[in-house]
Amino acid sequence: MSEKFNIQIEKLNIEAIDLLNKCENEEAFEDWRVNFLGRRGKISLLLKEIPNLPVEERGNAGSKANESKKMLQDLYDTKIEKSSAPNSSDKIDHFDVTLPSRHLPKGSYHPTTKVVREISDAFYNMGFQIIDGPEVEQDTYNFQKLNIPVHHPARDMWNSLWIDKLSDSGETPLLLRTHTSPMQIRILEKHNPPIRVLVPGKAYRYEATDATHEWQFFQIEGLVIDENITFANLKGTLEEFAQRIFGKTRKARFRCDFFPFVEPGAEMSIDCFKCEGSGCRVCGESGWIEILGAGMVHPEVLKGVGYDPNKYSGFAFGMGAERIAMLKHGIDDIRNFYSNDLRFLNQFSY
Ligand code: PHE
Repeated sequence: MSEKFNIQIEKLNIEAIDLLNKCENEEAFEDWRVNFLGRRGKISLLLKEIPNLPVEERGNAGSKANESKKMLQDLYDTKIEKSSAPNSSDKIDHFDVTLPSRHLPKGSYHPTTKVVREISDAFYNMGFQIIDGPEVEQDTYNFQKLNIPVHHPARDMWNSLWIDKLSDSGETPLLLRTHTSPMQIRILEKHNPPIRVLVPGKAYRYEATDATHEWQFFQIEGLVIDENITFANLKGTLEEFAQRIFGKTRKARFRCDFFPFVEPGAEMSIDCFKCEGSGCRVCGESGWIEILGAGMVHPEVLKGVGYDPNKYSGFAFGMGAERIAMLKHGIDDIRNFYSNDLRFLNQFSY
């Protein structure tokens, strides 16, 4: 009798699977479900026969019938799910291949990052090492070792954001570095000539912001130290840099300027790349655009870190990255760089 029940179930399974595979539309699926899994369906009828079996066979027969019910229910569920999924393979020919694809928003580098990288590449290709330094700096590095003693009026050139007060204990107070020049000292202390380094990094000043001033900005510092380095090396290197960034035909002009840690000090201008020197809005009608400060490293600075100024000489320079980006891209307000306005930033996602 039990054998007969088992055979009945096997037959039912085969029939059910066969018919399920043939179902093509919703109606057919529903008929199939009622016929096999419904309250008066074939499985239910089989289950109803179980009480007529000999007692010792009932348990086995019951679990067989339930197994079959579960298996058919699962098969049915997966079939239904597949047939209603939107990307089911049998619906693929309904795609409209002419439909424009969905626009995925794409991030991009910040304009400051881009220009810092461009300038770094230019110097890297001229043999410079690119290095990083601390933004929270000691008074000694930011000022004293750069030939700017405590209380010296030259400090007025850099309005500082202090973290500590000047202490009586002789400890050097901390501040947010006002320029990247303290890295000149850190490099001179740690490395031996020949030195050729570029230091891009943030600098901070206690300043009211306007179209050309920000209290936080990026500077790019350069330092070259070796025997027999002259002002001609400074001019040649910086002119080459200007041509790599602003175009091959750029001319450079150097004029006297003062920074306590260089002697002589200079400011470098390039002839206007917009009007080629004839005068326009970008160059303020002068034909020249100032792009950086530079000079020969002061003998006092070299002595301070234990170098013999009669043996070693070198030059240093510093420029504002945002200023270079503003010139390159015709941006007229430095505050755009830190206001996170996507309408501004998106213009640089090329
Ligand atoms: N650190 C100077 C500044 O912030 C720039 C500079 C760097 C000038 C190196 C000369 C040499 O204004």
